[in-house]
Amino acid sequence: MRCDAAGAGDECRFSSPALATRDAVSEPLVSQRAMRARIIQAMSLFSRSKPDTKPLDPATPGDATKVKLVREELVLATAPRGAHAEQFRGLRNSLMALNPEGAPRTLVLTSASAREGKTVATLNLALALAELPNTRVLVVDANLHQPAVESYLGLQRKAGLCDLLDGRCAPDQAIRATSVEGVSVLGAGTLPHNPSVVLGSERMKALLATLKRQHSWVLIDTPEASTISDASMLGAMVDGIVLVVRLGETPRHMVEQVHNTLESLGGNVLGTLLTGGHEQAG
Ligand SMILES: Nc1ncnc2c1ncn2[C@@H]1O[C@H](COP(=O)(O)OP(=O)(O)OP(=O)(O)O)[C@@H](O)[C@H]1O
Ligand SMILES: [Mg+2]
Repeated sequence: MRCDAAGAGDECRFSSPALATRDAVSEPLVSQRAMRARIIQAMSLFSRSKPDTKPLDPATPGDATKVKLVREELVLATAPRGAHAEQFRGLRNSLMALNPEGAPRTLVLTSASAREGKTVATLNLALALAELPNTRVLVVDANLHQPAVESYLGLQRKAGLCDLLDGRCAPDQAIRATSVEGVSVLGAGTLPHNPSVVLGSERMKALLATLKRQHSWVLIDTPEASTISDASMLGAMVDGIVLVVRLGETPRHMVEQVHNTLESLGGNVLGTLLTGGHEQAG
């Protein structure tokens, strides 16, 4: 994790997550020309990437429960009393306020560009939500281009989302309880050649409905939305989208464009989660 050398004391420049209101960005819908440009960009990206599509082994039930979380980015586990963990609790509380009846909810986390902190934010938010009583949180790795959820958790990659969708394994061989009570994980699994077809399928919709019945929160980590359409497609299938924005790095117009695209394709953007915000503060 990057730390701010000029920052205050031992405080890493982690994040100041804040959930802005959904009115924060209100530009017109993205133009068709911009959409076409993104589709072409995405197609060229697909043609470049060569995912390792070797079939993964099914998980052994209980294997992940023995693995402690040690990555420093997972502040809810490694520094639960710190300011950064508290900020994620604040984000959790904002989401709870949007859902006063406590109904099960599915959320997509995405960002405009790559490496803005989506996976770290997804996992910390999951840990923050699981602190609440009787809360079952499932983290789904739907980044079929660069899956990273298992790696952050210190787990070996095993069969997961794609294997479940393909009927190659049973749910208990793909959904793994972690060492944190209330938090389970569904890794990306065996990577397909056609991620968008897999994620946009009716099977995916049906699986999401099933997972939602079984969990309080289903948090879905996705690739960046400016060049890959997966997050937009998934965004239309879930209750809400959280847009992760790394302050000072992602141009505002790009965030606005992605926000508009997500909404124009049927997504409900709840707000933005700001990362790397310490030096902007004050
Ligand atoms: N809030 C943050 N502030 C500073 N650095 C962060 C923050 N969150 C994550 N990082 C660091 O940024 C890098 C990318 O984080 P992460 O993997 O969560 O990004 P991502 O958006 O999921 O990336 P990708 O687009 O590849 O999926 C990692 O090195 C991580 O340690
Ligand atoms: Mg990621």
